[in-house]
Amino acid sequence: MNSNSLHSKPSPHDARSRILIVDDDPHVLKVVALALAQKDCECTKASSALQALTVLRNAPKSFDLMIIDVRLPGMNGFDITRRALELNPDLTVLTMSALTELQTPVEAIRAGTADYLQKPFQPSDLLACVDRLVSKRHAAFERKRTEAQIDNWDSAARALSLSLNARDKETEGHAERVLGYSIRLGREVGLSNDQMIALEFGARLHDVGKIAVPDNVLKKPGDLNDEEWLIMEKHPTMGQQMVLSMNLPADAATIVAQHHERWDGSGYPLKLRGEQIHIGARVFSVVDAFDAITSDRCYRRAQTYEAALDELRKYAGIQFDPNVVKAFASVDPAVWLEIRSRCPADAFPEASVA
Ligand SMILES: [Fe+2]
Ligand SMILES: [Fe+2]
Repeated sequence: MNSNSLHSKPSPHDARSRILIVDDDPHVLKVVALALAQKDCECTKASSALQALTVLRNAPKSFDLMIIDVRLPGMNGFDITRRALELNPDLTVLTMSALTELQTPVEAIRAGTADYLQKPFQPSDLLACVDRLVSKRHAAFERKRTEAQIDNWDSAARALSLSLNARDKETEGHAERVLGYSIRLGREVGLSNDQMIALEFGARLHDVGKIAVPDNVLKKPGDLNDEEWLIMEKHPTMGQQMVLSMNLPADAATIVAQHHERWDGSGYPLKLRGEQIHIGARVFSVVDAFDAITSDRCYRRAQTYEAALDELRKYAGIQFDPNVVKAFASVDPAVWLEIRSRCPADAFPEASVA
C-alpha cells in the first residue's frame, strides 16, 4: 500500500477528506488517486482485501471515505464494506464496479455503501460523486454538533432557571409557560431555526438577571421606590451577561437584554424602538404579557383569553409589534389553552376559551 499527498492531520470538520481507495487493478488505483489529487484530500491506496483490512484495523477512524471495488482477491468488496463499517460506523463507502448485474448495486447498498459508481467512469463523475458524499458527511457532522451544543445549552439553561426559581417562587411555572407560548408564536411569525433556538433559551431565561437583584427589592410586597426601580431595571442587562457567560447563543442573550423594550421606545434599559428590537424579544414580550394577564396576581384574578387579546390589541403599536400581535390572534385560542395545560400552573379561568 502506498500513501500519497499526506498533509497535516485535519480537524473533524476540515474540508480535507481522508480517503482509502481499494482496487486490485493498479491502473484504476492510479486514475482514482490522480482524479482525487485535484481535491484537497489525503489518499491511501490498497490493492487487496488483506491490505485494506490491515489499514482499517490499524486505524479504523483514519478515513472519512472508502472507495472500493467489488471483485477483489481474498474477499469481495461487500464483505470488506461490512467489516469496515463495524470498525468505523461513521465511514462513508462508495462502491465501484464493472459488473453490470442489477444485483451488484443492490448488494452494495445492503452492505452499507452510500453510493455506487459503474465502471468505466469519467474522473468528473467520480469527483461529483465524492463531492456529494463529502457534503452529506459535513451536513451530518454539523447536525450532530448542533445537537450536542443544544444539549449543553439546555443543561446550562436549566441550571440557571433552577437558581431563579429558588429565589423567586412567585414566577414559578411562568418561564415554562412563556417558553411554550414563544415556540408556538415564533413558528407563526416564521422565525428561522436559529432564531427559534435563541427564542427558546431567551424565553426560558428572560428574568434570570433577577438572581442578582437583592431580596429587599425582589421580594418587596409593595411598590418599588425610584432607587429600587433602578436596581430592578438592571435585570435584563445582568441576565444578558449571565447568558453570555454560559456560552448560550448570543441572540438568546439579546432577547434577555431586550425583553422589557417596547415598540414605541418607552421600554428599558435602552429605549429601543420598532424593529431595533430583536424579533425574538418582540415575540417574547407578547407572550410574556399574555401569561401575566391570564395568571393570578396578588392584586387581581387571572383574566380570560378574550380579555388578554383585547389588551394585546390595545397596546399593539405601543408596547407590542403589531404584526406579532396579529400573528398571535391568528392562532386558535385552544392552542394556547393546550400549551398552558401542559405547564405546572393554574388553568385559564373557566370558559375563557370558546
Ligand atoms: Fe423581566
Ligand atoms: Fe416574565
